[in-house]
Amino acid sequence: MTYRNFIDLWQLEANELRAILDQAHAMKRARKGWPKGRVDADAPLKDHTMAMVFEKNSTRTRFSFEGAMRQLGGDSIIATATDMQLGRGETVEDTARVLSRYVDMVMLRVNSHSDLEVFAEAASVPVINGLSDRSHPCQILADLMTLEESGLDLNGARLAWVGDGNNVCSSFLHAAPKFGFSFAVGTPDRYAPDEDDVAIARELQGRIDLYETAEEAVAGADVVITDTFVSMGDKDGETRLAELDPYAVTEELMELAQSGAKFLHCLPAHRGEEVDAEIIDAEGSLVWDEAENRLHAQKAIMRWCLNK
Ligand code: CP
Ligand code: NVA
Repeated sequence: MTYRNFIDLWQLEANELRAILDQAHAMKRARKGWPKGRVDADAPLKDHTMAMVFEKNSTRTRFSFEGAMRQLGGDSIIATATDMQLGRGETVEDTARVLSRYVDMVMLRVNSHSDLEVFAEAASVPVINGLSDRSHPCQILADLMTLEESGLDLNGARLAWVGDGNNVCSSFLHAAPKFGFSFAVGTPDRYAPDEDDVAIARELQGRIDLYETAEEAVAGADVVITDTFVSMGDKDGETRLAELDPYAVTEELMELAQSGAKFLHCLPAHRGEEVDAEIIDAEGSLVWDEAENRLHAQKAIMRWCLNK
């Protein structure tokens, strides 16, 4: 069987990413108003099962993938790594070989990105990155789908990221050259995005502007994006909250962006830390559509992985 892994956005061609988003939009439109549990008319993943393995907590990724698989006519099996023999030292490679005999695709949420790569190398079924310490590609496709739905043409748009230059930020860097948007990042030096990810984006002709203040990054932006200041696995929570506080998305900061600028946050959010309630709960905030679109974008990602 030929299949494709979905590990990082920079590894896909721009036209493949475009096709995935087009399919996600079309599938969403086709089932408008339907109950969420109804299977899509063509049931494209009928007879297929996906395994999901979580080393970290999840609400959106877990429920959206499971709901997505049902809508595609397939099934899923979920486990947390600590409940598996992985939690007692069975190797990632052996786990990959065994799961490949039971299911048609595996989605993993891992502490260490290298485990995802090792798993994918040993597996004989497609592997999807459901968040690692390095990146969160499914999230960013849902985010871009949401911006397009709001009427934004990504090509030539200005997206601004403020706060921690973390895993979610890295996937935006990977997406920028593929979709033609420029990406401004405002972080303290210590929280700047991964240098390799910046280099990847720039090598692919992405316009990436790095700043040390939130104000510079947000100036004139069409979209303002942030994420939690303390990601899963970060041990220096109090220091982060103190050092990143000047980068919080407030009404004053949003005023520096284009008028009518949109706000994105992958969630879970911490009101009063990285974003004020007045912003995330306001009209320009797209966070609920963004969360919903995880489901639609992932349906298209899974079909792409399996050539269905
Ligand atoms: N945005 C996101 O991935 O959410 P969860 O951690 O709840 O899956
Ligand atoms: N940066 C966050 C994203 C959660 C969806 C984390 O890694 O915890």
